[in-house]
Amino acid sequence: MTEIDLREHAEDFNSHPYPYYEKMRAAGPVHRIRTPEADGVWLIVGYDEARAALADDRLGKDPRITGNWQDESPGLFSNMLDTDPPHHTRLRKLVAREFTARRVEALRPRVQQITDGYASAMLEAPDRRADLVDSLAFPLPMTVICELLGVPDLDRARFRLWSNEMVAPTGPEQESAAVMAMSEYLVELIEDKRCTGPGDDLMSALIRARHEDGDQLSSRELVGMAFLLLVAGHETTVNLISNGMRALLSHPEQLAALRADMSLLDGAVEEMLRYEGPVQTATYRHTREAITIGGTEIPAGQDVLVSLSSADRDPGRYPDADRFDIRRRSQGHLAFGHGIHFCLGAPLARIEGRTAVRTLLERCPELALDRQGGGYDWIPGLLIRGVRKLPVRW
Ligand code: HEM
Repeated sequence: MTEIDLREHAEDFNSHPYPYYEKMRAAGPVHRIRTPEADGVWLIVGYDEARAALADDRLGKDPRITGNWQDESPGLFSNMLDTDPPHHTRLRKLVAREFTARRVEALRPRVQQITDGYASAMLEAPDRRADLVDSLAFPLPMTVICELLGVPDLDRARFRLWSNEMVAPTGPEQESAAVMAMSEYLVELIEDKRCTGPGDDLMSALIRARHEDGDQLSSRELVGMAFLLLVAGHETTVNLISNGMRALLSHPEQLAALRADMSLLDGAVEEMLRYEGPVQTATYRHTREAITIGGTEIPAGQDVLVSLSSADRDPGRYPDADRFDIRRRSQGHLAFGHGIHFCLGAPLARIEGRTAVRTLLERCPELALDRQGGGYDWIPGLLIRGVRKLPVRW
């Protein structure tokens, strides 16, 4: 274990975290780090240790484990990702009953239709250039999650601002203003949904959902659920599409292989998730008691982050891990997490990712990155790995 102060290197770490992770893994699987937004947290960087930690119930999710934390919003943080069993089990069961494989599978043709619409609009650009994030990677998952939940008229521009602020805060004041605005908005949205009567969308189903024993989601829990699904449903998938296309377009031999044989598509998307997954570190976990991970003892009451990006580049698990190879066996990657909090939306994200990549390759044979000097504008912070803009040309 080493103490690593990344504050001086924050910008460089933000754009090129992999060399830092490589050094950390070489020194051991667990470290204590300081970054501008995480001052003194434990970071797990080895694949085996990361996978074990994600499934270890001595690492809890409830923020009250490490202090007198209180959710002062009307329920944003009463969501699955901030709870432990039995509360988590109850919430996950209620939503999993509605977020079924059948409901997700039924979305496939609509995902294609939405993708076609955005791709057509993008390809009309007279100068044959576009920002792939704005043209497709952001609006596709946003439209899908809004339709799934039954909030087609969501104020997306405002929602995007608040949501971006919450996953990559630009400052404490801006973050709490975003929490407030998002809270008010969601409370109203759910109230409207209750009043307009039941539809066959997921949000209506959640409002109606009851266990056999009459258990129902409270208003706070509904706000938390809507918040988590809306934020998790788009902040991540946007970066699967943009990181994935960036990786593919910057590896011409891999791009050519995929174009020549589209049966490689599913494997290619898994490799995109492994190579540059949208979630850099899983959300905070907290030690309920002292635990030893990879030979390092972490005392009770500490904040722990698991670096999914580092784990998925661990050469102990994936030989030649820094190489992007759409034919490799990337099974077991941790991009969707592991254990009881494993991503609920993984099947939907895979449908969206595969549809977007296939449609772009089929509709746009000359698609290329449009780098006009300068680096990328990376989303700051440890949570999300992705660029704000991805200029392309064709
Ligand atoms: C490529 C896209 C996506 C990636 C990489 C991703 C990644 C993840 C990860 C890593 C976790 C676990 C976090 C942790 O343990 O701290 C998670 C949880 C979750 N994700 Fe996703 N996600 C994606 C898309 C989606 C979508 C589309 C939805 C919803 C429609 C969604 C809903 C959720 C929910 C509800 C949880 C919490 C599950 C629980 O606590 O039991 N995700 N996701």
